Amino acid sequence: MTDVLDQQAFRYSNDEQPSLLCEEVTLSDLAREFGTPLYVYSKRQIVQNFHSFDETLKSSGKEHYVSYALKANSNIELLKILAEEGAGADVVSAGELLVALAAGFTPEKITFDGTGKTDAEIELALKANIHAFNVESLEELSVINGIAEKFGLRAKVSIRVNPDVDAKSHPYISTGLKENKFGIDMENAREAFIYASKQPALEVVGIHVHIGSQITSLDPFIKAARSTVKFVNSLRVKSGIILEHLNFGGGQGIHYRNVVRHPLLPKDELGEEGEYVPSLSEFVGAVLPILDQTGLKIIFEPGRAIVANACALLATVLYTKANSKKKFVIADTGMTELIRPCLYEAYHQVAPLELTAGATQKVDIVGPICETSDFLAQSREMPTLKRGDSIAILCAGAYGYTLASNYNLRPRAAEILVDGAEYRLIRERERVEDVAGVARIENAGLHALVS
Ligand code: LLP
Repeated sequence: MTDVLDQQAFRYSNDEQPSLLCEEVTLSDLAREFGTPLYVYSKRQIVQNFHSFDETLKSSGKEHYVSYALKANSNIELLKILAEEGAGADVVSAGELLVALAAGFTPEKITFDGTGKTDAEIELALKANIHAFNVESLEELSVINGIAEKFGLRAKVSIRVNPDVDAKSHPYISTGLKENKFGIDMENAREAFIYASKQPALEVVGIHVHIGSQITSLDPFIKAARSTVKFVNSLRVKSGIILEHLNFGGGQGIHYRNVVRHPLLPKDELGEEGEYVPSLSEFVGAVLPILDQTGLKIIFEPGRAIVANACALLATVLYTKANSKKKFVIADTGMTELIRPCLYEAYHQVAPLELTAGATQKVDIVGPICETSDFLAQSREMPTLKRGDSIAILCAGAYGYTLASNYNLRPRAAEILVDGAEYRLIRERERVEDVAGVARIENAGLHALVS
C-alpha cells in the first residue's frame, strides 16, 4: 500500500549491462564483499515509507500515531531509524519490548499485543510504563489487573475486538474472523469493557482491531471500521464508557510484483499493472472518515508497509538442472531466510543482479533445504540463470529475517544497511559455532575447519 515513489530504492543502472542497485550501491559488489545469502536494506525507503504513512494521516488533521509492528522486522539499527523519525512501536514479547526501548522508542508510544502474554512480560511492560496493553480475553484482563495491583500500579488497557470480517487475505494471515483466535467477539466485547472498567488496577483507554495482513482490498477495512465505530458509540451511550483511542491495527497490503522493472526482464504474468493494491491515500481516505466519527485519537500499527519493499535478499545460484517436466534453479537461500513462499505460497519478485539480453526460461527457483516446500518462485519466466549468477528476492524486509530459522543447521544471514552511496553491516552472519555450540565444535577438534 506504499504510494509510488519518485525513485525506487531498488532499480537497475542505466548502463548497457544493467546492474541492480540499492540507492547508489551496486548489489553485486555487496554480494561479493559479504557473501550470500544477504539481506540488504535501504534507509531511504524505510524513512519514506514511514513518512508517507504519517504524512497522509497528518494531512487529515487527525490526532494519531503510527506504531510500527516490530514483528515485521526487529533489527535494532532499523528500529533506531524509525524511533528517530517519531514512530511508535507495537510489540508482542519481552524481547521486542526490550529492543524497542533500547532503540529509543518512547514508552508512551509503545503498545503490547498478543494472545499469550506471560506474567513476566506483563510485569515488565507495566514497569516500563507503556502506552497500552492490547488485551485479547477476559482472563487476560483479570491477570493484568492482579499483577498491576501487586505492584501498586495501574495498567492502561485497550481491548481487542474481533469484528468477524473476512480480510480476503491468505487464511493463515487473516485474524478478524470468529474462527480465528484473536480478540473478543462483538457479542462479548461489551461485557469485557464493563468488566475492565470495574477493575481497580485497570484503566480502560482504548479499543483495538486488526483483521489480518497483506490486505489488498478496501472493503474489509471499511466493514471493520464501521462495526468498530458502531460499537464504540454504543459503548459510550449505553454503558457510559468513554475511550481515548481507537487502534485500527495494521495489515495494509503492498505490491510484490513489478517492484523493479526493466525491458530485459520478462513481463510479469499478471501484466504491467501486476496486482491491485490500494494506495495509502485511498486507504486513509476510505477508513479515516469512518473512524473519525468516534472523535478518538487514532493509532495504526503497520509492519509490512514500512519495511517490506526496503529490502532485497541476495542469493547465488549454486546449480541448475532440468527433467522432462521442470527446470530448476537451485539457490543458496530458501525457506530458512524467507519462509513466505513456503508458508503462504506468497509471490516475491526475483531479479538477476546483472541483466544481459538473451533467452528467457520458465523455472522453479528453489533453495538448498531438504523440504519440497523450499521454493522461492514456481514456474517463473526468468532470464537464463547459470551457476555463480547472483539474484535478488525483492520485498524481503517484512517477515524475512524475523521468520528466519536455523533449520538444517544453517547460520542466519548477515544484514546490510545502505544509505546513499554508503553501507554498513547491521548484523553479522551467524557462525556455525553460534548455532551448534562452540564447545561442541571445539571439542571435536573441528574449529579450524569452520572459522
Ligand atoms: N498489529 C497486529 C495486532 C498484528 O498481529 C500484525 C501482524 C500487525 C499489526 C502488522 O501487520 P502488517 O501491517 O505487517 O500486515 N508472517 C505473515 C504476516 C503475519 C502478520 C502477523 N500480524 C507474512 O509474512 O505475510
